[in-house]
Amino acid sequence: VEKKELLYEGKAKRVYRTNDENIVWIEYKDSATAFNGEKKAEIAGKGRLNNEITSLLFSKLKENDIESHFLKKVSETEQLVKRVNIIPLEVIVRNFAAGSFSKRLGVEEGKKLNYPLVEFCLKNDDLGDPLVTDDQIDVLEIATKDDVSSLKDRAKEVNQVLTGFFQEIGVRLIDFKLEFGKDLEGNILLADEVSPDTCRLWDIETNEKLDKDVFRRDLGDLNNAYETILGRLGGPTHV
Ligand code: C5P
Repeated sequence: VEKKELLYEGKAKRVYRTNDENIVWIEYKDSATAFNGEKKAEIAGKGRLNNEITSLLFSKLKENDIESHFLKKVSETEQLVKRVNIIPLEVIVRNFAAGSFSKRLGVEEGKKLNYPLVEFCLKNDDLGDPLVTDDQIDVLEIATKDDVSSLKDRAKEVNQVLTGFFQEIGVRLIDFKLEFGKDLEGNILLADEVSPDTCRLWDIETNEKLDKDVFRRDLGDLNNAYETILGRLGGPTHV
């Protein structure tokens, strides 16, 4: 597969066309952003860490019968994925209260929820990715009721499997964000990334934060936290 021209540049990744119309080439950038792009930094090595971690997690999900767009890691910072049309929803799963849930609803961070909660946000930077209800998604024709219900089921399956992986390495999966797309045949496929940029990961013993909150809240060295996750997952760590 050959890398062709840039199709799209996001906050954390660049997407290139390839000579195969079913495959796109993703490059993970060293940029860190938070609060809808208000806080920004370049962190050398972050692109490699997220590419390695996402590649590992998508491969492990596949071993557990959870398909995704991921095809192959092609370099430390690049991977090939199946081309999909992204459904413009952020599918958020929460096992413990944290972040915007805690802030909006006044619930202490770290409180275990009675069951995994699935929320949807509209993927729209201008609007600040607002929370949307199932009916709002339906009435705006963002996705059908059937699609919404299958996104919820899929997100919960991913949660079960991921919770298990992280538990094995002494990490609590607090919450995370998924994105799904539709392939050329219209099948819904897990897409985007699963990394410490998109998950809240706390050490089970110490509650140390090993995710992007380290950057959002200035808690220390982001690369250290991400290297810890990659190392525990058995990935190729540097230093
Ligand atoms: O900020 P909030 O508490 O709603 O985030 C829930 C989860 O979704 C966190 O793990 C966060 O990292 C992730 N998220 C994301 N991208 C966004 C919003 C949230 O990866 N745009």
